[in-house]
Amino acid sequence: MKDFKRYTITAALPYTNGPIHIGHLAGVYIPADIYARYLRLKNKDVLFVCGSDEHGVPITIKAKKEGVSPQDIVDRYHNMIKTSFEKFGIAFDYYGRTTSETHQKTASDFFKTLYDNDKFIEQTTEQLYDQEAQQFLADRFVTGTCPKCGHDEAYGDQCEKCGTSLNATDLINPKSAITGNKPTLKTTKHWFLPLDQYDDFLKEWIIKEHKYDWKPNVYGQCKSWIDEGLRPRAVTRDLDWGISVPLKDAEGKVLYVWFDAPIGYISATKEWAEQVGKNWKDYWKSDDTKLLHFIGKDNIVFHCIIFPCMLKAEGSFNLPDNVPANEFLNLEGQKLSTSKNWAVWLHEYLEDFPNQQDVLRYVLTANAPETKDNDFTWADFQARNNNELVAIYGNFINRVAVLTHKYYGGKVPQADDLQDIDQKTLQELKSFPEKIGQSIEKYRFREAQQKLMELARLGNKYLADEEPWKQFKTNPERTQNIMFVALQISTALAVLSEPFLPHTSKTLSDILRLKTLVVKLNWSNIAKHDVLLPTDHYIEKAGLLFSKIEDEQIQKQLNKLKQSKIDNESSSQDLTPQKEQITFDDFSKLDIRTGKIIKAEKMPKTKKLMTLKVDIGLEQRTIVSGIAEYFKAEEIIGKQVSVVINLKPIKLRGTLSEGMILMTENEKGKLVFVNSDVETPTGKTIA
Ligand code: 2FM
Ligand code: ZN
Repeated sequence: MKDFKRYTITAALPYTNGPIHIGHLAGVYIPADIYARYLRLKNKDVLFVCGSDEHGVPITIKAKKEGVSPQDIVDRYHNMIKTSFEKFGIAFDYYGRTTSETHQKTASDFFKTLYDNDKFIEQTTEQLYDQEAQQFLADRFVTGTCPKCGHDEAYGDQCEKCGTSLNATDLINPKSAITGNKPTLKTTKHWFLPLDQYDDFLKEWIIKEHKYDWKPNVYGQCKSWIDEGLRPRAVTRDLDWGISVPLKDAEGKVLYVWFDAPIGYISATKEWAEQVGKNWKDYWKSDDTKLLHFIGKDNIVFHCIIFPCMLKAEGSFNLPDNVPANEFLNLEGQKLSTSKNWAVWLHEYLEDFPNQQDVLRYVLTANAPETKDNDFTWADFQARNNNELVAIYGNFINRVAVLTHKYYGGKVPQADDLQDIDQKTLQELKSFPEKIGQSIEKYRFREAQQKLMELARLGNKYLADEEPWKQFKTNPERTQNIMFVALQISTALAVLSEPFLPHTSKTLSDILRLKTLVVKLNWSNIAKHDVLLPTDHYIEKAGLLFSKIEDEQIQKQLNKLKQSKIDNESSSQDLTPQKEQITFDDFSKLDIRTGKIIKAEKMPKTKKLMTLKVDIGLEQRTIVSGIAEYFKAEEIIGKQVSVVINLKPIKLRGTLSEGMILMTENEKGKLVFVNSDVETPTGKTIA
């Protein structure tokens, strides 16, 4: 590994429109965190940044659905996601947000620099438009059939099935995600980054320079895009949520979210540098800084092609040295899905498995989708915890701590005349930092963690073979040596576990009281010292590092997933009517008119009844309706409603009711009016 002076490590900024789940953790954040923690343990100068991606259509769609502002949505999820990361020990140096002032200015200035240097082409083109919503449709606002693979739910910016990056106008049979309407075309002006002009640069930089050091899945995707020929890509949008295009003739236009989001890494660096008194430029513009982007496979084109072309166009920034993207994680054989609630949400996991963050980290790394999509199953989660973390790692440490207290009052014993097996074991221990580090540096985190577990296995086997508990009475010197060696292994394990199992590493380091040692142990000096934990050093009594996960706990998780499946199936099934079938003749007996509530009063001394005056055009009717428990009188005045006007009048608590207001339940089970779109009542029959 070339020795860089600094490392800038970025992890994809999550969209702030929902909580995060195991797929995010396994694909991006755990590998990035392992890498950053490893480098820090090697005393490298590391900056690890991430933050909230707070623009983009998914956030606007969610806000529309909930009837709140996009800012409300991002405020809610920014904090939730940030807390989840902290709890799982993802140790960012800085977690920013793209609604921050620094970011707005950084992204805006970046665009302006490219504009001033003629790096964009300005084009007025026909774009998809939703007449009803009066809005242009780009990115996630439009779905349709992918022209490449035929997937019929491709988005306007990308097909998630085949990964192709698309323009909205490429979609076959496009459909508005807002109204479901077929879009029309309308002309609009935008600024495009002419990716086709970067063809030579990309061929030289990716195909020549990175053919062998980028992961085959990443390199392969990039090569196929370059081979197909790149097209200019619009970097602005007609939307009202985002960073305004900093030009005079660009009212109502914002930067494309994929233009602003990766600049978020730079803004986060600026905010961090300001806080800690460093120069942000060292981390982005200096030759001896290595830039790495950790992402999921759906982000490859943006980090390997579009963002590098932006950086190249600007001219003063480093390009990424590597983009170790992962494939996707499935859950119990099915694609993770937020909308189908087919996921393990981090905040929910912590409710069911409090303080067991490292178990999830461990299992997700053991099954990381590094070279192909991989599957998370609860059975595997249980087995890896019980058979590996509890039975090997935890068992070894527990034995060491218990025996050290039992035999020596908690103090590391004196070792003399070590036998071959002891020397050999200590020698082997020294090879682990290098062995594990080599795998980490190649972004093979599963392999690295397996090697870490070999160290725990080495300790476990050593104790099982040497059986200090059998020697203690008859051969105290031998027992001292065995326990001394076992304590050295425990110490190495505490240090080398940190990137993978940070909470466990901290607990174990506290048990071993590593902070009180004269030499601060790290990744580089473990192999240099013959003695890591000196004779007479006192260690604390240990609680259990890991505990067994029972079948009932796993069953509970499986039941949750089963319920998600049932919910999905029932919501996608045709509705079964709950009343017996009627004929058209039956139905046509009803005279239903549109009307408007002009007066509403709760009927005194009743719980449910409300007296309404409804204007149905040619006349006004008094109707007594049983809705008082669901609505306040003042909130329904002015509502458009549908009224059955030929229902036989009936006296209710002394008031003659001359019709019936039609009500139904919405998808959330809330009582709502069957209303019409008519602005003023016409008295016309609607059925
Ligand atoms: O796919 C996503 O979740 C995007 N929000 C990732 C953005 S990464 C970066 F460019 F900010
Ligand atoms: Zn496709």
